[in-house]
Amino acid sequence: MARRIVITSGKGGVGKTSIVANLGAKLSRAGNRVVVMDLDIGLNNLDVACGVENKVLYDIIDVIEGRCRPAQALLEVEGYPNLWVMPSAHTLDKNYVNGQNVRLVVEKLNGICDYILMDCPAGIELGFHRAVAAAEEAIVVTTPHISAVRDADRVIRLLKAYRLSSVSLVVNRARGDLMLSGEMMEIADINELLKTKIIGVIPEDDEMPLSTAAGGMVSACTQPDIAFNLLADNLLDGEGELYDVTVKYRGFFGAIKRGLRRRV
Ligand SMILES: Nc1ncnc2c1ncn2[C@@H]1O[C@H](COP(=O)(O)OP(=O)(O)OP(=O)(O)O)[C@@H](O)[C@H]1O
Ligand SMILES: [Mg+2]
Repeated sequence: MARRIVITSGKGGVGKTSIVANLGAKLSRAGNRVVVMDLDIGLNNLDVACGVENKVLYDIIDVIEGRCRPAQALLEVEGYPNLWVMPSAHTLDKNYVNGQNVRLVVEKLNGICDYILMDCPAGIELGFHRAVAAAEEAIVVTTPHISAVRDADRVIRLLKAYRLSSVSLVVNRARGDLMLSGEMMEIADINELLKTKIIGVIPEDDEMPLSTAAGGMVSACTQPDIAFNLLADNLLDGEGELYDVTVKYRGFFGAIKRGLRRRV
């Protein structure tokens, strides 16, 4: 049986699609067969983020309507032999697909992979419910901004109505310099407010929008790369540490870096 994990958020644009793509890549590198599913029906983001949008032959609607088998719709991501994308349909009315449809597709994928990561659309409308209904675990993504944290709180409350075995949190776009200067909420404060286990902290990274747009994962040995490795470890064994975004801004040289970053 595959682990079926929905990646969701209250506020839009907090990094769900980027996290699904990069976490999927890390889990697959660890030897797992991973399917990342784009459930943002009506838009296609995940195939772009994974660099496979030009290869799409079938999409999730073709699977739902029986025009192809699930395995035929899956697209292998270049450089990641164990990572596949199930693309969303971008021409269709997004209200056409319901939770039962998604659950059936997920059930069919269950036997052929170890992880199914579902990229949820923003908000708490139909798209949210149909994605969560097919999942068994949820990861809520927030940024360290009060509006995103407030929306994450709302989503965490809504998730209590579903039969999920776990709900955890990833804090994306964290900036150590701003956390140390008190201009950004700290990880401990977010933990305190949301009372949900944090399994990943991903730093703000200027290159990430470029890699997402170019259909690639974050570059090896960069700060986000290390953070995604820790997130994957946490998901795999539950014991991994969190990436500390403040460490490079501590001490004498850290204070200089902080000053330089502010000027940039
Ligand atoms: N850690 C980060 N540092 C810098 N930019 C980031 C980071 N994470 C995501 N981004 C950028 O933020 C933008 C939105 O990210 P993404 O599309 O993954 O969010 P989303 O939650 O899936 O959005 P939506 O709610 O619209 O589906 C993208 O340009 C992405 O490259
Ligand atoms: Mg998205």
